[in-house]
Amino acid sequence: MLLDIDHVGIAVRDLEEAVEHYARTLGLAPVHREVVEEQGVEEVLFRAGTSYIQLLAALGPDTPVGRFLERRGEGVHHVGYRVDDLAGTLSELAAEGVPLVDEAPRPGSRGTSVAFVHPRGFAGVLVELVQEP
Ligand code: CO
Repeated sequence: MLLDIDHVGIAVRDLEEAVEHYARTLGLAPVHREVVEEQGVEEVLFRAGTSYIQLLAALGPDTPVGRFLERRGEGVHHVGYRVDDLAGTLSELAAEGVPLVDEAPRPGSRGTSVAFVHPRGFAGVLVELVQEP
């Protein structure tokens, strides 16, 4: 079951500059920072209600976010949906013919389990399913 919007992932070129800008203009304090090597990103989270704004910087040009920045520039990279049963949700989506990037859950940040769903499945939006620990 889909519980909430977990986060909106925004690709930025300069993480420190973006963090400073979001903090100052929106009056928010960062609540989490993490390097996720498997995804090739460093992320900073701001809490917004029950959801997060996730600023994403690429660890190098040859990473998914690095290639996204090269191709499309800064902007919304993906939307994270919080679910209560990630493996079950993946099975349901596969049964509906929705193309998956990840067939099985893998580790995300904050101790979460995550799986990406191909943008073809959701009107051009890269979707990340997130299950909290
Ligand atoms: Co994400």
